[in-house]
Amino acid sequence: MKANGVIILDFGSQYTKLIARRVREHNIYSQIVPHDITLREVEAAKPAAIILSGGPSSVFEENALIIDPKILNLPVPIFGICYGLQLLAHNYGGSVEAKEKGEYGFSELSIDSSHEIFSNIPSKINVWMSHMDQVTKLPSGWKVLARSSNEIISAISNEDSTRIATQFHPEVAHTEHGSDILRNFLINIAKCATDWTASNFIDDQVLKIKNEVGNQKLIIGVSGGVDSTVSAALIHKAIGDQSIAVLIDHGLMRKNESEKCISSLKKGLGLNIHCYDESEVFLSKLKNIIDPEEKRKIIGNQFIESFERISKNFGDIKFLAQGTLYPDVIESGIGAGHQSHTIKSHHNVGGLPEDMNFKLIEPLRELFKDEVRNVGLELGLPDDLVQRHPFPGPGLAVRIIGDITKERVGILQEADQVYIDTLYEDDLYDKIWQAFAVLIPVKTVGVMGDQRTYENLLALRAVTSTDGMTADWFRFPDETLAKVSNKIVNSVKGINRVVYDITSKPPGTIEWE
Ligand code: XMP
Repeated sequence: MKANGVIILDFGSQYTKLIARRVREHNIYSQIVPHDITLREVEAAKPAAIILSGGPSSVFEENALIIDPKILNLPVPIFGICYGLQLLAHNYGGSVEAKEKGEYGFSELSIDSSHEIFSNIPSKINVWMSHMDQVTKLPSGWKVLARSSNEIISAISNEDSTRIATQFHPEVAHTEHGSDILRNFLINIAKCATDWTASNFIDDQVLKIKNEVGNQKLIIGVSGGVDSTVSAALIHKAIGDQSIAVLIDHGLMRKNESEKCISSLKKGLGLNIHCYDESEVFLSKLKNIIDPEEKRKIIGNQFIESFERISKNFGDIKFLAQGTLYPDVIESGIGAGHQSHTIKSHHNVGGLPEDMNFKLIEPLRELFKDEVRNVGLELGLPDDLVQRHPFPGPGLAVRIIGDITKERVGILQEADQVYIDTLYEDDLYDKIWQAFAVLIPVKTVGVMGDQRTYENLLALRAVTSTDGMTADWFRFPDETLAKVSNKIVNSVKGINRVVYDITSKPPGTIEWE
């Protein structure tokens, strides 16, 4: 844990990650920790401020999510959001009651503009609410700073403003001036240092990597994706040619991806990079495997097995670096403690065998995707490399539903290429977070010329997102969809029907498997 940042105690709100991002947008480091973190752990982190997230519980439920109350008495500014407000009120002797009708969605607030938490904010704002319980009696000495149009207490503070809380969600984009409210707390009240910048991050990591690796050798897996490329560049900056970049071609890359990747990293960045074609072993292990989690585990394990074998070519290697990001860590259920469920075991984290012989270096594991892109740009990587859509570690395996064969990989590679080329052509690539094609194990009837066809179904996916944690499907112009579908059916042998996926995340995920 980095000292002097903000720690966010997670009580299970769907918005906890959003709080972490919002804090970082003010160049202040933030980290999510489980709500039952110990007092000692909090003290060791020396936080400049603490935020209590919202959550689905009620403070007076028997199995309410507990927190060591001594944490709430630390001499550190604390901001409570929704459940966090109720927890503070309850802890300091106020009353919280369940009402029959909660408040969900927009609410108009009248605020006390003279308080520094609302400095430079209009006296009436629309905010986002989502709660059943409400505070009905304040702790002694506390004051009301805002009420909703339903007369519900919506913001409170103690006498010296070291405890501030809102019933609404300032982290949600729908809340007007939400970012200003957080800034007022973080910078004006808690006096957090605004030193979380790409260039400071690079300096810190370079030093850390140098210290950790010393004069040993490190191997890094690159895939051509943004995360591994930025990691490789960062590590190269720290230890130069002591780092050996290896591209394991699992046969599940995009068309010509490995060649393109090698050339840009070798020529462009001067990395010491080597490519190995391991496609046969991956494809043979994946034969007849249908279950998505099984596919992911097989690929994750084979990846490490291949790595361990290949790394022997380079002598004694102690370290393996990976481009794991913060959302990977959180979604694998490791980072945020007990509140996060394993949704998919990510190839970078969950799939690793326990008896691995490498020590892991993951310089980006604290970063969200947009922060990685900023670090990439700061390191001088070309824009088109940094702005590339994310590509999952298990590659096309999670986009070929059902059995994976060389032939099916070939069909998907061709279709995907046509799709992505069209997005560039229509100037849409940079407006989309991620776009890809999915091959579905369903055959349908068509007619081409005078011939009946009976071929595969292909789905197109395109989503907008800021960090991959939530996403919405991209609204294409009709012409682009018509053009892509036409081109694919006419030019990709094996596909005669194209559909477009209109599912957001949640309830869907971005990848299909
Ligand atoms: P989902 O499908 O979980 O994906 O909504 C969220 C983002 O993560 C990417 N993804 C992965 N990235 N290894 C990775 O490096 C993986 O195993 C993996 N699985 C999904 C996905 O492409 C999307 O950007």
